[in-house]
Amino acid sequence: MKLLVILLFLLPALSAEEISPERQSDLLHLLRQDCGACHGMTLKGGLGPPLLAESLAIYPKEFLVQTILFGRAGTPMPPWEDFLSPAEVRWLVEQLLKGIDDEAS
Ligand code: HEC
Repeated sequence: MKLLVILLFLLPALSAEEISPERQSDLLHLLRQDCGACHGMTLKGGLGPPLLAESLAIYPKEFLVQTILFGRAGTPMPPWEDFLSPAEVRWLVEQLLKGIDDEAS
């Protein structure tokens, strides 16, 4: 019973992963500027591989979230966990999978 109460208490927090419109535009800016520094301004690739929807479609979503949060050891891909919350990274991955390149051009 206690567990159920705790779960009910946690649920709203878990679903409150909404990113405010201001934060969304910050995140998109970061994507172009910071991620774009390696992945190309239009995300078509540079030092890092392209982040286009069709390039990322082959990966499980959670794998991409992990890559961004924790980086890839032994590669230049840095971890972003100090700057981005898991919810924000998930949102970014969703945007990437929808295709963000149209907006950048
Ligand atoms: C300093 C350069 C650098 C920056 C900055 C950078 N990346 Fe990367 N990223 C890389 C490299 C290099 C790889 C490829 C790693 C490998 O060889 O597996 C990579 C891989 C990835 C992958 C996996 C793609 C794949 O095909 O395996 C994703 C997703 C990704 N980066 C997203 C991002 C996002 C989002 C940001 C900004 C928040 C970002 N990266 C910033 C260099 C960078």
